[in-house]
Amino acid sequence: MSAPASPDAASGAAPETLLLGQILDFTADPFSSPPEDSARHLSRGGIVLRGGRITEIGPAARLIESHASARRVDYGAALLLPGFVDAHAHYPQTGIIASWGKRLIDWLEGYTFPEESRFGDALYAATIAGRYLDLAIANGTTTIASFCTSHPESVTAFFQAAQARGMAVVGGKVAMDRNAPDALKDTPERAYDESKALLQRWHKQGRARYAITPRFTPTSTEAQLEAMGALWAEHPDCAMQTHLSEQVEEIAWVKELCPEAEDYLATYEKHRLIGPGALFGHAIHLTDRERARLAESGSAVVHCPTSNTFIGSGVFDAAGLVAGGVEVGLATDTGGGSSFSMLRTMGAAYEISQLNGAVLHPAHLLWLATTGSAKALRMEAEVGTLAPGSAADIIAVDLASTPAIAQRAARARDIWEALFPTMMMGDDRAVKAVWVNGVSRR
Ligand code: GUN
Ligand code: ZN
Repeated sequence: MSAPASPDAASGAAPETLLLGQILDFTADPFSSPPEDSARHLSRGGIVLRGGRITEIGPAARLIESHASARRVDYGAALLLPGFVDAHAHYPQTGIIASWGKRLIDWLEGYTFPEESRFGDALYAATIAGRYLDLAIANGTTTIASFCTSHPESVTAFFQAAQARGMAVVGGKVAMDRNAPDALKDTPERAYDESKALLQRWHKQGRARYAITPRFTPTSTEAQLEAMGALWAEHPDCAMQTHLSEQVEEIAWVKELCPEAEDYLATYEKHRLIGPGALFGHAIHLTDRERARLAESGSAVVHCPTSNTFIGSGVFDAAGLVAGGVEVGLATDTGGGSSFSMLRTMGAAYEISQLNGAVLHPAHLLWLATTGSAKALRMEAEVGTLAPGSAADIIAVDLASTPAIAQRAARARDIWEALFPTMMMGDDRAVKAVWVNGVSRR
């Protein structure tokens, strides 16, 4: 009889992997405690993975000794972090990212709707879904909440592509029954039926989560918003994603379409599209009433800074909203956003907050890109954290990925100062490794 290949093989347990590097691990919410003390920094740490989960985290020397038979992967001085969580994206807009010269409504009509009209073609949808998720992984993003298009094929393509890569994603069919080309318009009944069928097929299948997805009030009649609210009431553990108060012209249009509504948020509230699990993209130009209702209802807003500058939408009030008790996530908003990178997105969030007179600490930025976004998605037990028991979605970030970044990081006096130049100037070159569900993907 031949000897077993390893102690794991002998015991039948899943093999262990031990990742080594620097580690930053949040111990508190940096928005409600001193940000510089909100995380534990291990200059030489380790993370033990088994069966797609994190089982232990701690000083490297201790884990090397206690897990002597684990496969060891040493990332040296690179920083091990949870994979980034992008709380609002449109994967079907991958091909039209960086389209020139328009504000929101014209940008939707001129670039977005023609491109989204192609996603009834299952093969095209699968091609773009795969391309998008590969770009996301290359940028260190391991969980995404994405809008699909109004075609069920686009939803199937997204979830299949995510499943093939082991990724935890949130997605949903866009409902839109007015102010759009015929190729994209559905009806209240079709939106309900197709969303329901997709939800039953995909929600909580493996790592997939479904989001009921009315695009925004200008493209949904009241009957359609009502149908989406009814579907969400039947399936409250799904997410609900939409857009809110992104541009002043959009808000004026909503006022025209719904003259009796008190404000933009009221057009969703009327149809029960508010509450825990609700994700409102952008939320820039809010009234005091809207801010208060977002907070007391337990809804989340998602900050999309590169989009807000690219489309010219305005200055989001991250610090004020968090202080007012609103859950805030961070996102690329690909392809209204101009980047697939959550590093670039953190840099843009810093710059926008500066315009608003509030200085975000690197801990705030990292929190928003990981645990904050995960909380907005109600997935914080699974992603956006290095806590034992969570999924092994882990990235290794090179803090000296370009000469410009390296020379600045060399002067850093602590880990936050070492990380900040990568947030401001880094991109996919900084993402040295990506583990998804315990599997190395980069
Ligand atoms: N509002 C409605 N649809 C969209 C979209 O696709 N992108 C952005 N940025 N805003 C929207
Ligand atoms: Zn969006």
